[in-house]
Amino acid sequence: MRFIESDFTIPEIPKQLVAQIRISASAPSNIALVKYWGKQGLQLPMNPSVSFTLNRSKTLTTADLTALNKASKQVLFKFYFDQKHYPDFEPKIAGFFKNIQKFAPFVTAYQWQIYSHNTFPHSGGIASSASGFAALAKIVVDLEKQLYPQQTEEYYNKKVSFLARLGSGSATRSMASPVMIWGTHPQIKNTSDLYAVLPNFDVHPVFSNFRDSIVLVEKGQKKVSSTAGHNLMTKHPYKDIRKQQAFEHTLQMLQYLKTGDVENFIKLTEAEALGLHALMMTSDPDYILMQPDTLKIILTIRQIRHQTGLPVCFTLDAGANVHVLYPENIVNEIEEKLFSKIYYDVIHDYV
Ligand code: PMV
Repeated sequence: MRFIESDFTIPEIPKQLVAQIRISASAPSNIALVKYWGKQGLQLPMNPSVSFTLNRSKTLTTADLTALNKASKQVLFKFYFDQKHYPDFEPKIAGFFKNIQKFAPFVTAYQWQIYSHNTFPHSGGIASSASGFAALAKIVVDLEKQLYPQQTEEYYNKKVSFLARLGSGSATRSMASPVMIWGTHPQIKNTSDLYAVLPNFDVHPVFSNFRDSIVLVEKGQKKVSSTAGHNLMTKHPYKDIRKQQAFEHTLQMLQYLKTGDVENFIKLTEAEALGLHALMMTSDPDYILMQPDTLKIILTIRQIRHQTGLPVCFTLDAGANVHVLYPENIVNEIEEKLFSKIYYDVIHDYV
């Protein structure tokens, strides 16, 4: 079923609230194969995107909620990361709570203590905001379930993705395995700009044991936030052509995932990664997120592939780190030919 925004709107806070409640949830990270780059309205994508769900890189979040005597205007909360108060993250979370108020007004009726932990190093340059907001959205929907238990499982699942989007666009895809599609595509049934969906076919088994090993060329905060990058797409000289390309790439990528066409999957995945960074390098102002070693690693991956025929490729997100994608059964060769020769930390994840 395809939901529209009004399906998720809740007009008022219910009268009966549970006084004290603890809710825990976890959510995986994801890596885009076809990239979401550029947005409009309230966190709506300029183009559809396709991602692999990364099941080892999870955010685990627990929220302790205390009902207030009177709902507050803005959500009252404190955010703890690995037991420590983390005020740096609070503005983004405050933005999330503000964005979701129309769809979950009951969040203002509670005082929130939020405790979060990642199963991966959070400054490691992998998208912790995606898994973080997805876990928080799950908690909100869990609370909604208790207040409004009459909805269907499908509604609750889509609502998690819908709310997560209002924290961080890519969080909308941090849902089920192995692949998610976000963004309305006229040729793909049930797709929506509002939330991500699973493909309506089984992903070919050759992708079921894929690894994403993330080479941490750069740790810590991104130099240019993805919000700033998305905004630069509004007036980007290549905006229209990129949009058209992403619609085509989405169809092609899904076809390769369905048929197990690893060769074309590799070609398209790398083209999308380089295309994303090309858009950054041709924005006004332009900027470069790749480091010299990003390029070195990319070239090494291509060299290994050309010399040995091993099905290994790379993708990038909005940073200098290299995501190395390859099937599990060639892990020893990739270790020997690539990871053993570089000095950066590598995080191994599984699709
Ligand atoms: O979710 P955001 O606003 O951080 O944007 C993420 C954008 C990319 O990671 C570069 C691409 C994507 O589709 O995840």
